[in-house]
Amino acid sequence: MCGIVGYLGNNKASEVILSGLEKLEYRGYDSCGICFFDVAQEAFVTYKDIGRVFHLVNDFNYQYENHLAIGHTRWATHGKPNQLNSHPHFSQNKRFAIVHNGVIENYRELTKKYLPEVHFISETDTEVIVNMIELFVKDMTVEEAIRKTLSLIEGSYALLVIDTHHPECLYAAKNKSPLLIGTGKNGITLASDIMALVGYADQYMPIGDKTFTVCKKDDYGHYIFEIYDIIGLPIHGDFLRMDLILDEIGKAGYSHYMLKEICEQPSVIRNIMEKYLSYDKFTINPEILHLLKSCDRIYILAAGTSMHAGLVGKYLFENIAKIPCEVNIASEFAYNSLLLTKNPVFIFISQSGETADLRACLVKVRELGYKTLTITNVLTSTLAREADYYLEIFAGPEIAVASTKAYVGQIVLLAILSYCLSENKPFDLKLELSKIAVAMEAIIENRDVIHTLVKERIVKRNCFYIGRGLDYYTCLEAALKLKEISYIQTEGFAAGELKHGTIALIEEGVPVIGIISQHAINNSTRANIREVMARGANKIIISLNRVSDPSDEIILMNIEEMLSPILTVVPTQLIAFFAALELGKDIDKPRNLAKSVTVE
Ligand code: F6R
Repeated sequence: MCGIVGYLGNNKASEVILSGLEKLEYRGYDSCGICFFDVAQEAFVTYKDIGRVFHLVNDFNYQYENHLAIGHTRWATHGKPNQLNSHPHFSQNKRFAIVHNGVIENYRELTKKYLPEVHFISETDTEVIVNMIELFVKDMTVEEAIRKTLSLIEGSYALLVIDTHHPECLYAAKNKSPLLIGTGKNGITLASDIMALVGYADQYMPIGDKTFTVCKKDDYGHYIFEIYDIIGLPIHGDFLRMDLILDEIGKAGYSHYMLKEICEQPSVIRNIMEKYLSYDKFTINPEILHLLKSCDRIYILAAGTSMHAGLVGKYLFENIAKIPCEVNIASEFAYNSLLLTKNPVFIFISQSGETADLRACLVKVRELGYKTLTITNVLTSTLAREADYYLEIFAGPEIAVASTKAYVGQIVLLAILSYCLSENKPFDLKLELSKIAVAMEAIIENRDVIHTLVKERIVKRNCFYIGRGLDYYTCLEAALKLKEISYIQTEGFAAGELKHGTIALIEEGVPVIGIISQHAINNSTRANIREVMARGANKIIISLNRVSDPSDEIILMNIEEMLSPILTVVPTQLIAFFAALELGKDIDKPRNLAKSVTVE
């Protein structure tokens, strides 16, 4: 959940790190820090504190000349966010500095066994790693000391270490937490995420688990690196070309990333279609189609918003492809002793491809010998690499913590997959997706109407979304979005369930937003809306034109019913955005959250 970045090269290292931290901040933003080797003083200089990267950028003294640096942006796991717990951390004698993303599970045992004399400054597990390196280096080389430490620590880590005795070396190690290495004509950059490499690397490579990397300057003044496996054998990997450009990760004139990403959704749909259309026909890797056609049940595992996409996926697999499917929350999967079918296939849905709960499931499922498919927005992610197959969403980098375009992209891809699996195509998917993109544009162009509605009716203490069938899944997602960025307590309910208890919460003026996209549920959802109105609720109805009533507040263009969640979610994303805007919340970086949840 944290972001790390390190640089060694001809550029001013501190600038590479600060720019990298700005791009990595969505991974965690409790606190941040930087440590670099100052050429003039021949010493490490550190800035770190609680708060956002822009404070660091403002407070920073740019006079220093430096070519080696590491940086960190934190989402607290061990110890609360404060200056002492911010990274980088140091060994007791200040020889080594470290930044770390991950969780060391056996840090207490290691402290007791190896470091009983050490006076720890922070509450973090990270300080244990750097002190072990300093302990072991007394009898061995730095590389050996780091490798020995790695052989003893258990858990997840992507870490970068620098050493006052070797100011032209940057050391890195990785297990389970993501780490990429990028090279360009001016040096080497290591980071948790490709975004921090943009502008500094022409090519990049994801680093594998249980590896150790050394970056240094060779005798000819070139910056080189070597990667070793756990027993010290060199590893060679294939570099990928950097396709991302700075424009793609900027706000492109929008006030917030979230608004930009909502507005990008029509082009996301068109982009995914283009990627999966071949000679006007949707095409998916035949091996994946064969795998899914021959299974007796699909098990979808996901978390949060991606889990909501999974619920829609279940509907699509069962209704279009006619394959039974069930959805499990990844963090619950390990505790439910599921009676699996004889021939299951597991689909992992994850925007980031790094969610630790999912990774734990993937490891377990693979151990059981079942086939796995990951659907992700990040091709280089752990879940993409470790599954038997993957499909890319092609939604482009999603930077706002609240997921919008990736959710839409996930459902579009699940629709394409179900469609390719179906014997009898129930509609023309290409035509229907194109219509949805146009219908979305209409909502986005008229978003001021939603803004006014939000100001007048939604900025309250709590809020309810209700719907049935596919609309219920949209309600779950809509409620998550509204609560996570506006902090208005919001619940999504199956409309028919209200009267079994929750209706007790309805009182004068409470906003209840009903979603109606399907003919079969129109009357019953409307009856439930009347019930809450009779108890004082302030209703807002989002409906498709063909099932609308003139009194509905948000009426959307008609599209294929089975695909309605792709469209109906858009006004709810805008409701969340405008509610957070009205309440003055930090929309792109809501409190307590991080984009990539790399701890279980
Ligand atoms: C909410 C949100 C989260 C993520 C969840 C899973 O807006 O983004 O609920 O969906 O943390 O993340 P991924 O999809 O990266 O596995």
